[in-house]
Order: sequence, then structure tokens, then C-alpha cells
Amino acid sequence: MAEDRSVETKIPRHVAIIMDGNGRWAKNHRLPRLSGHEAGRKSVKKVVQAAIAHGVRYLTLYAFSVENWQRPREEVQGLMGLLRLVLREELAEMGREGVRLRAIGRLQDLPEAVRAELETAMEKTRGNTKLDLILALSYGSRVEIIEAVKEISKEVKAGRLDPETIDEKTVSGHLYTRDLPDPDLLIRTSGEMRISNFMLWQISYAEIHVTPVLWPDFGKEQFAEALADYARRERRFGGI
Ligand code: FPP
Repeated sequence: MAEDRSVETKIPRHVAIIMDGNGRWAKNHRLPRLSGHEAGRKSVKKVVQAAIAHGVRYLTLYAFSVENWQRPREEVQGLMGLLRLVLREELAEMGREGVRLRAIGRLQDLPEAVRAELETAMEKTRGNTKLDLILALSYGSRVEIIEAVKEISKEVKAGRLDPETIDEKTVSGHLYTRDLPDPDLLIRTSGEMRISNFMLWQISYAEIHVTPVLWPDFGKEQFAEALADYARRERRFGGI
């Protein structure tokens, strides 16, 4: 019988990642927390390259949650500074690699300097079509859903929308991700079995891969492993 090679070709179109464990990595190495985030930056780069190499079309990274604003001021400032630096320093390479940068979340919460850098990077990479890299920034899934409900309510109130016609498409169409397909694969690093308010609506049918590896230790090999795990799964979407 011919060997079944189909598992090797099942590539998820959209991969979403909860990048966790920078703090623990830093602690293990007796370094300040920000060094963990700096090391995490290198993993982002490796994973973007791996995603392109494997033919993944959309990659969403949970870079900063609405809850993360509650961290010590020094860490928040450090993360914002790092984000600004990354956007500036990686722009040229994103261009060369065909990466289109996008963002989801309460972008209005970001410091003006970060927002400006983000807008520039998104504008300059707009025409790229190899990989959409979506950064979730000041992102919270419940807030996203609340905002969608408010928008939908306004349309109903204005008489533009019949409540009886509201369906999954209506809700999906009012989320930050309105023009993105749902993630097929959700990866979480550092072993925690939690969703942490990330894409609650969008991951309804996603396969979940949790690895004990801390984010700064996650690279091409671990990404390939997650894809192989995904390829072995049989997705039934509630059918049999
Ligand atoms: C979670 O680790 C990670 C974050 C809150 C930030 C993610 C940021 C990066 C990977 C750095 C740069 C990335 C981009 C896209 C510019 P944690 O601090 O919660 O770790 P812990 O749970 O071990 O404390």
C-alpha cells in the first residue's frame, strides 16, 4: 500500500500563538524580566521565518494583553520600548520577506510613539502577500466582543439591521479580525493550560497545541513540531 503522505501537507492557514514564559526564562537565567522579553523577540523572528517556510498564510501573536497594563510600570515601559524598537528595526526585513504587518486590539491605548511606528510599519508593508503577521496589542477577547455587541446594537437601533438576521457572520464581521480567517491552530508555550482571554470566538474550532517549552526557547524546530501535531489531528468541526 502506498504510504499516506497527506499528513505532511496539512498546513494550517492561520496559526495563533500565546507566547508565554519570558519571565520564567529570565528567572531561570538570573536575568531581569525585560531580558526575557528581549530573548522572546528572537523567537518571534525565528517563528516568522518558519511560518513563511512552511507556507502558513496568517500568524497572530499575543504580544500584549489588556491585562498586561497592570504589570509594574517599568516592565510595561520596557515592553513598549521593545515593541517600538522591533517595529523600526524589522521593517526592512519584513519588506524583503513579503510580510504584511497588521494589528488587533485597543490600539488607541498604546503610547503615541508606538502607535506612530505601528501605523508606519502597517502602511509600508500593506502590499505584501506572503505572510500576514498580526500583532495582538492591548488585546482582550471579551472587550473585543463587547465592542462588537455595541456596534451591532447601534445598527439595530438605527434600523439598519434586523435583529432576527443576526448570525455568526454578523458577529465575526464586527470583531477586530473581521477580514481574517479563524485560526486553525493555537499554540501556547510554557505549559499553561489556559486561553487567557485570547480570541475566544475565533478559536472555536482551532486545534490546540500546548508545549512546556518557554517562549524564548521556542524556535523553528518547536514550530515544525506543532505543525506536525496539527497534521496528525482529524478535524471534524462537530461532525462525525
Ligand atoms: C509572556 O511572558 C510574554 C509577554 C507578556 C510579552 C510578549 C513579548 C515578546 C515576545 C517580546 C517582543 C515581541 C514582539 C512582537 C515585539 P510572561 O512575561 O508572561 O512570562 P511568565 O509567565 O514566565 O512571567
